[in-house]
Amino acid sequence: MFLVITAALYVSGQDEATEAVRERGALIASSLAQTGQYGLVSGNSASLERSIQRLVESDPTIASIHLRDAGGRVVAAAQAPDRQASFTFEREMRADVFALDLLDNSRATARGAVPDATTSEGRVVGKVTVRMSSEPIVRQRLRRIAFGAAAVLLAAAISIMAGLTLALRLREPLRAVMAALREIRQGRFDVTLPTGASGELGELQATINEMAHGLSVRREELQALVERRTADLQAAMEQARIADAERRRLIARSNRQLEDERKRIAVEIHDHLNASLIGLRSKAQHIAELSAAMSGSTAREVHVTATEITDTIAGLYKSARDLIKQLRPEVIDVLGLTGALQEMTREYNQLVPAIRFVLHVSPDFPNMRGQVAIVAYRLVQEALSNVVKHASASRVEVSLTAPAGSDEVLIAVRDDGVGFDPAMVPGGSLGLAGMRERVSGAGGRMRIRSRLGRGTRVTFRLPLVDGEAVA
Ligand SMILES: Nc1ncnc2c1ncn2[C@@H]1O[C@H](COP(=O)(O)OP(=O)(O)OP(=O)(O)O)[C@@H](O)[C@H]1O
Ligand SMILES: [Mg+2]
Repeated sequence: MFLVITAALYVSGQDEATEAVRERGALIASSLAQTGQYGLVSGNSASLERSIQRLVESDPTIASIHLRDAGGRVVAAAQAPDRQASFTFEREMRADVFALDLLDNSRATARGAVPDATTSEGRVVGKVTVRMSSEPIVRQRLRRIAFGAAAVLLAAAISIMAGLTLALRLREPLRAVMAALREIRQGRFDVTLPTGASGELGELQATINEMAHGLSVRREELQALVERRTADLQAAMEQARIADAERRRLIARSNRQLEDERKRIAVEIHDHLNASLIGLRSKAQHIAELSAAMSGSTAREVHVTATEITDTIAGLYKSARDLIKQLRPEVIDVLGLTGALQEMTREYNQLVPAIRFVLHVSPDFPNMRGQVAIVAYRLVQEALSNVVKHASASRVEVSLTAPAGSDEVLIAVRDDGVGFDPAMVPGGSLGLAGMRERVSGAGGRMRIRSRLGRGTRVTFRLPLVDGEAVA
């Protein structure tokens, strides 16, 4: 680039020099033609020669000047032999004053004469020949260009040196800055940069140190905050867990107490009420037998009444037996959960013929007899009672499964009835709430899936406890 610019300057400098020499040559030839005519006419050639000699000496672009008279004889001449002439300018000298455009150099030609030098009408008294050399101007221009180029090169070299020195001085600190920033990006904030540098680099180092320190402090604060919050959360969760376990224990205990109380009442009914009813029935039957052996209307009336009492006592006895069964599913003790539920569905099929009750028991379902079995029995009892009361179903299936590899049992009651929205259950209802409490007390989970017109499916997952599963 630099060389191209320099070459362009050189070429344009040569053109300008040629132009300048042409202008000057034409001017000198014209003015000598005008001023020299008097010396020529008066014959004062010595003065003319001195004048043109001074002119040649003072102007390095003039190679020679010759003044000739009308006959072509050299009257005065001055030349510098060491100058190489490249342009020649000729003008005729006339005795009359004539108009001349001094700036009109269009007639000058390189190394050639001006054929028609004037428009004057005057007498030709002589001729001026000026030979010009463009070399001095070209040399001067070249010197200027060389000087300019040297100055530019020097300035460029100085700038490159300054840039390199600055880059070398900045390289190590900038590397350290980059390394520190990489550390910070990777979460290591314990970086400290040397802060000796001045100016913007020093400011950058100090800012990075401050930033790293600020980030480190902030991270410690955050860590402390997270630890505090985590500890609070863990404490709250532990409290909730304890409260939940306590609540479950309470529910389980109250359920056990309830079952114990039911059992006690069942035993009372069985031992006292039913025993008394059996005694009364024997007595009423005895009265009926006695009165049958007697005659008369009174005896017949006594017989009828005694028979009625016997029937009523039999009905009461059956009701008491049913009550005992509900209060104490002792069938679980005898048959286990599976057998008790088979008994339950068999009875429901008899009592409610409009609905078909089906029980599915998977082969690996454990037969259960303990507390969890009673909970499961009560849950199915309430679920089937709801189907009978609310579902308008035609079929209900109870399925008992034990998912492989888990220590819990899955019990599902599914009907094809009207369905309901579990979120819209009336406030006073106790059945579903009681089921939830029982399940929760046993440490299990309950789920209801129901859609209007698409039936209902209630599932319970109950964990097995030690000794619950009995083959
Ligand atoms: N299988 C079902 N099909 C349709 N609706 C049901 C079913 N089970 C429950 N429901 C609806 O849920 C409501 C709440 O049942 P829940 O057992 O809690 O109370 P309840 O049976 O009405 O009264 P109780 O307190 O005597 O049990 C019922 O009133 C009924 O509208
Ligand atoms: Mg109910």
